[in-house]
Formats: sequence, structure tokens, C-alpha cells
Amino acid sequence: MPALRLPGLIDAHVHLREPGGDHKEDITSGTAAALAGGVTMVLDMPNTFPPLVDAQALALKQELVERGALCDVGLYVGATESNASEAAALGGHAAGLKIYLDQTYGPLRLRNLAALVAHFRVWPASRPIAVHAEGLSVAMAIGLARSFSRRLHLCHVSRADEIALIRAAKESGAALTCEVTPHHLLLSEADAQRLGPYGSMKPPLASTDDVSALWANLGVVDCIATDHAPHTRAEKEAESPPPGVPGLETMLPLLLTSVAEGRLTLERLVQLTHEAPRRIFALPLQPHTRVEVDPDARFTLSHKNLHTKCAWTPFEGMAVQGRIRRVVLRGQTAFEEGEIRVVPGFGRAIKPVGN
Ligand code: NCD
Ligand code: ZN
Ligand code: ZN
Ligand code: ZN
Repeated sequence: MPALRLPGLIDAHVHLREPGGDHKEDITSGTAAALAGGVTMVLDMPNTFPPLVDAQALALKQELVERGALCDVGLYVGATESNASEAAALGGHAAGLKIYLDQTYGPLRLRNLAALVAHFRVWPASRPIAVHAEGLSVAMAIGLARSFSRRLHLCHVSRADEIALIRAAKESGAALTCEVTPHHLLLSEADAQRLGPYGSMKPPLASTDDVSALWANLGVVDCIATDHAPHTRAEKEAESPPPGVPGLETMLPLLLTSVAEGRLTLERLVQLTHEAPRRIFALPLQPHTRVEVDPDARFTLSHKNLHTKCAWTPFEGMAVQGRIRRVVLRGQTAFEEGEIRVVPGFGRAIKPVGN
């Protein structure tokens, strides 16, 4: 097959870790990993230290992005017990509101009904509310969104029962979208056993039946997002390792491999990784931006050539087909033959357009 040209991928779920976690990743290393993975725009999660939950933290983060980013970065605002109106006021500047309904890494879990109702009541109706919701929490989030006619985006869906509920909710007209991760599509409980702490994340890797259900229901999945969640090896080797795995640099080769295997079409890949996230989050176009891929090149995924600061991958040793040769962002070669070709500050802090 001749060289392929794809649009710049948009990853709607990334943890760049600044401020407060820059030993795991920082804006420059995380956006380098993005470019190396053919991702030209990331949406960054607010579970930092301190978390991004007010105007001041948003302004600080925008400044850090303008100074350090290599690709474009949009920012989520996190929900707390007391910031519903302040968060809503930032709706036009944020990729979305993020609510953590279940326990995961970081300081932002929220399960207080009055606070949840306040957020769903005042958050701008045209902007998405993204939720970390597992199991019953998926039903809770759908109920809240329907009650207040808000747009819901379900992060990292991983289970058969969850995707079945999402299908039913969509069929009954609910305004909701969802994402799945490459690791939930390509790894299962058996890999979690093998990988130990390096295979531990929220939601945890699921059964092969769950994995099959995600593939069988890919038609109701809106986008694929990495949930790039780097932690250091030292943290992963410690007593109670934090959940999360990196994913920016492995997503596209893994998905191109699924295309080569006939499990996915290239057109669908582009919908899932570019068109849908752009539409859901009302993201600006990146003119003169493309990813050049050699669809025939075979190689083995390895921690050795990664740009992420954590320098490991749960996909270590996996054979893939499809190598990223060059990434062009706004007319400029940003990544070529393994090297980053732009300087920190080339990336921009972006906000939604139109709606
Ligand atoms: C994420 C992290 O480390 O920030 N961890 C994870 O296991 N997915 C948090 C999250 O996305 O739930
Ligand atoms: Zn999560
Ligand atoms: Zn995450
Ligand atoms: Zn070319």
C-alpha cells in the first residue's frame, strides 16, 4: 500500500500531569508523546495537584501550555462539591466539565447528589459533561444528563453491561457520546495478570467477553481516546501502585494493525480518532495538518523509543503494522523519523469554537 495521509488525531482523554505531577509527565514530554503518536490535539484532564477547578487554575494551565506545549491542548474543568457556578462560567473556555463519579487517581471524586444536581443544572447545555463512571455510575450519569437535558460524554467505557446500556440509551434518544481506550479494546484480565502493576488502570482490564462486546458494539462508540495516564516505574513498583497507563504513542500503530487485520476500516479509524472528537467538543480545525503513515512497516512496540517521561508501555513486545513517518501541524513538520522538530510553545491552548 502507498503512504497514507491521515488528519491529525485528536485525543480527548490525556493526563499531562502539570501542575504537581511533572515527575510523571509534563506538558512538553506529554505533547512530544502525542506528536510521536500522530496526535496533534489533546484534551487534558483536571486531576492535577492542585486540580483545575477554577478560573485561576485554568489561566495558569493555559500559560503553561502556551509556554511548553508541542501540539495543541484543550483543557477540562473539574467538578467539586462547591464549584458548580464557577465551573459553568468557564464553559466557553474549557473542552468540557469532568466529573469523577468513582474512585480513581487524583483528588477529584464527587458523589454528593446536591453537588451533582447543581453541576448538571448550571453547566452550559451546549457543552459536554465528561464522566468517569463505572458500572452503576453509568446509569446514574445518564439519569442526571437526561433529567437536565445536558450533553453527556462517558469516558473509557470498558464493560459489556455498560455498552449495552449506552446502546439502549442512545436508541431511546439520549444526547450522549462515549469513548473506549485502545487498552480496553486490545488487552484483557489475562494481560493484567501478566503485567502486574503495569496493567493496572481504572477501569480495570476486563474479561474477554467484555472485550468482545466492545468490538461488537463499536457502532455505538463515538471515539477512541487513550486515557494516557503516565506514572513512574518507581510508583508502579511501590506498595500500592497508582492506576493508569500511558497510551499516546501506541494508539495509532495499534489501530492501524487492527485495520490491517480487517477489524476496523481506515475510514472508521479516522471517524473515531479525529472527526468525532472534533464534533463532540466543538474543536477548531487545524489547517495544513496531517499525519503521514507507512501502512506496511512492521515493528515491535518498545519502551526504548518513547517520548513519554514514564518510559514504559503495557504494549511492550507487541508486533504492530503501520509506522508514523511524519506529522505536519499548521504547515510545519512537527515530527519526522522518530524526532520532534518543533520547540516548546509551538502548541497552542485551544478553546471550543461556535457552540
Ligand atoms: C487516571 C490517572 O492516572 O490520572 N488513571 C487511570 O487509571 N485511568 C485517572 C482516570 O482517568 O481515571
Ligand atoms: Zn477515569
Ligand atoms: Zn483518565
Ligand atoms: Zn508525503
